[in-house]
Amino acid sequence: MDELMKLLGTIVLAAFLRTAWNGDAYMACVVDNRPVDSQVQWLVQNYNTGTNIPISTDTDTQNAFKYQIDKPAANNWRLKIQNIQESDMALYICRVQLGGQQNANDSRMIYVVQKPQIVDIFTSSDTTKQEGDRVELRCNASGIPTPMITWHMAGGGILPTGGREWTSPTIIIPRVTREHRGDYKCIAKNEAGEDVRRIYLSVKFAPSVTVHQYRKQVFQAPGYSRTLTCEAKGHPVPSEAEILWFKGGSSLVDSNKFIKESYFGSNYVMMKLTVRDITEADYGDYKCYAENSQGNGENTVTLSRSDKFVDDRELFRESSGGSIIVFSITTLVMLLGTALLHLC
Ligand SMILES: *[C@@H]1O[C@H](CO)[C@@H](O)[C@H](O)[C@H]1NC(C)=O
Ligand SMILES: *[C@@H]1O[C@H](CO)[C@@H](O)[C@H](O)[C@H]1NC(C)=O
Repeated sequence: MDELMKLLGTIVLAAFLRTAWNGDAYMACVVDNRPVDSQVQWLVQNYNTGTNIPISTDTDTQNAFKYQIDKPAANNWRLKIQNIQESDMALYICRVQLGGQQNANDSRMIYVVQKPQIVDIFTSSDTTKQEGDRVELRCNASGIPTPMITWHMAGGGILPTGGREWTSPTIIIPRVTREHRGDYKCIAKNEAGEDVRRIYLSVKFAPSVTVHQYRKQVFQAPGYSRTLTCEAKGHPVPSEAEILWFKGGSSLVDSNKFIKESYFGSNYVMMKLTVRDITEADYGDYKCYAENSQGNGENTVTLSRSDKFVDDRELFRESSGGSIIVFSITTLVMLLGTALLHLC
C-alpha cells in the first residue's frame, strides 16, 4: 500500500513578503497504480481542531478563490493555494479512497514565514525629552513567526537598560538624563530576515558653562587686546541672543571695546569675548552666561595685568616643573580638534 501513492513536491513552502512574491504555493500529489473509479482528494487539517476539511475531489475544488487543482501529468493532482496567508499554515493531506474504510494517504505541513517589517504607527519616531522625563521607545514589526526585537546603541555604546543589547519591544527609561541621548537602533528579526529602525533621542538640558583651566586667568599688558573663552553645553544649544558677557553687573555689547563671537557645535557653543585696547579699568572678573529653554549657567574668567605684551597666538601657558611650556598655534589647533572630538 505504501507503494500505491507517492507524494512529491515542495515540502516546506515559504511565503516571503507577499509584495515581493505572488504568494501562491504548489504541492504535487502523484498517484501511481490508482484503482479504477477511485478518486483523489485533497484535505486540509484545521490547525486548532485537528479536523480534516475536504478541499477537492479530483479537479473540483470547494473554494475556487483559494484552491485550484491542475494536472501537469495524468498521475499528478497538483494543488495550488492562492495568496498564502498565515491562516494557510496547516497540514495538507492527499488521499485515495480504496473501497471500504481503506485509503492511502500522505501529508505535508506548510509553514508560512514572512520577513519582518517595522510597523510605523506602533514604532517611536525621533523623540525629544527633558531631563527627568520618563521615556518609552517602542519598536513594532509585522512578520511570521512574530519577530524578536532587540535594541542597540547605533554607536555600540551601553544602553540605559545596562549592557549593549536589550531584547524587548520597548525600552523604558524612568528618568532620562543627557547621557541617554543618542541614536537607538532596533532590529526586528525572524527566520525569514530582519528589518532595522533608528530612533534618535534628544534630551533637553540647561547649559553648563565651563572654562578650560588654562583660560580661567588670562594676562595682558595695557594697550593690547585679549580674548576670553568659555564653553556652554546645553540642549537646545543656546542661541546668539542667549549668550551674554558681564563685567561688574553690566552686560557687554559689541563696541570698539568688546567683540563677542560664538562658535556653534551640535551640543555646545564656544563663547569668546575680545577686550580691545586694554586699560586699567578693564582688568577684573568677566562673567560668561548662557541660557536656553531649560535654564542657564555661568562661569568666570579673570583678566589680569601683565607688564609685557602677551601674544594671543601663545594662548596656553602652563608652568610645569619650573619650565614654561608655550604652545604654538599649530598645537592649539590640534588640541582644539581633540577637544571637539571629545565633546561630540
Ligand atoms: C491515512 O492513512 C492511515 C493508515 O495508513 C489512516 O490511519 C489515517 O486515518 C489516514 N488519514 C486520513 C486523513 O484519511
Ligand atoms: C506589534 O503590535 C501588535 C499590535 O499591538 C502586536 O500584536 C504584536 O505582537 C506586536 N509585535 C511585536 C514584534 O511586538
